[in-house]
Amino acid sequence: MKALVYRGPGKKEWADKPVPTIQAPTDAIVRITKTTICGTDLHILKGDVPAVVEGRTLGHEGVGIIEEVGSGVHNFKAGDKVLISCVTSCAKCDNCRKGMYSHCEDGGWILGHLIDGTQAEYVRIPYADTSLYPIPDGADEEALVMLSDILPTGFEVGVLKGKVQPGDTVALVGTGPVGLAALLTAQFYSPAEIIAIDLDDNRLEVARKFGATKTINSSSDNAVQAVLDLTNGKGVDVAIEAVGVPATFDICQEVVAAGGRIANVGVHGKSVDLHLEKLWIQNITLTTGLVDTNSTPMLLKTVAAGKIEPKLLITHRFPLSDIMKAYDVFANAAKENALKVILYQ
Ligand SMILES: NC(=O)c1ccc[n+]([C@@H]2O[C@H](COP(=O)([O-])OP(=O)(O)OC[C@H]3O[C@@H](n4cnc5c(N)ncnc54)[C@H](O)[C@@H]3O)[C@@H](O)[C@H]2O)c1
Ligand SMILES: [Zn+2]
Ligand SMILES: [Zn+2]
Repeated sequence: MKALVYRGPGKKEWADKPVPTIQAPTDAIVRITKTTICGTDLHILKGDVPAVVEGRTLGHEGVGIIEEVGSGVHNFKAGDKVLISCVTSCAKCDNCRKGMYSHCEDGGWILGHLIDGTQAEYVRIPYADTSLYPIPDGADEEALVMLSDILPTGFEVGVLKGKVQPGDTVALVGTGPVGLAALLTAQFYSPAEIIAIDLDDNRLEVARKFGATKTINSSSDNAVQAVLDLTNGKGVDVAIEAVGVPATFDICQEVVAAGGRIANVGVHGKSVDLHLEKLWIQNITLTTGLVDTNSTPMLLKTVAAGKIEPKLLITHRFPLSDIMKAYDVFANAAKENALKVILYQ
């Protein structure tokens, strides 16, 4: 079969690989029908995630059809359509029992990281019973690809950790796919204002369409001053960081109001200046997290009910065999007006 293989920093290849086989009774082999590329895949290609070894198939998102299951898989059978979670969960270890699947003692984020991932014709999914979700009949499979990672990430690590409440004013720093996922799901809680901040006017326009009440381009405006001006100098109840660089974390620290929450979602490669000397006396809560995907069943229902439309995040579609081209488009997202790309077969 063909797979998108990591060949070391800056290098990738659409290469031949053996079709994966069942290695444990709890495994399933899934034929990928739709997958996508994540900002984290670009981090890996930059060499930012050293645990990824040369030869690894990338990708941790997608939907597909079960090809084969091991003898210990009871919830699925060959032919079933499934949504793949980016996080693998055994459902039995201490962390899984707490709902913290991201730190499953024999799973967590392993797909396209520590084991071969979904940017391939076939993928092996460990603990299939508790790491896959059945796709309801009639569901829009493209929309469901957004549920493998970005929707639960924006919701769990941004909205839930930030405790967005009715009437809140929210600053959303970063309107890439993850920030936009936070924007869509923050509206479950009816915040009064969502102020979106980014460098890219195209993405800010998308944020408006998705429900942002105000937008700030931080390349032309002083974002901190602009947020303070919009909030009578008070700042915001919740600041969601969805970029992963010191500059955007700083914006969050400077715009959060007394008693407010900073929910950091971005993956940071460098340390930031934490202004604890200012934050403590303002009763600020700071949260971080790796997505657990324990909200996936709930999100599946909201998408099926049409309460949110994650399909709006999809800007480009390519056959899986054109994945090298898709990477070029996704890596030049601002120039290409790209958000999420769908690869299908
Ligand atoms: N915590 C988790 O479990 C988890 C899971 C998935 C992704 N992530 C992380 O979430 C972050 C966002 O992911 P994404 O796929 O949306 O990434 P992305 O790169 O597509 O989006 C980032 C956005 O930030 C904007 N930006 C960059 N620098 C900025 C600055 N100085 N000021 C304002 N805006 C700026 C960009 O224009 C872009 O729109 C990444 O760091 C990603 O690795 C975290
Ligand atoms: Zn991802
Ligand atoms: Zn576990």
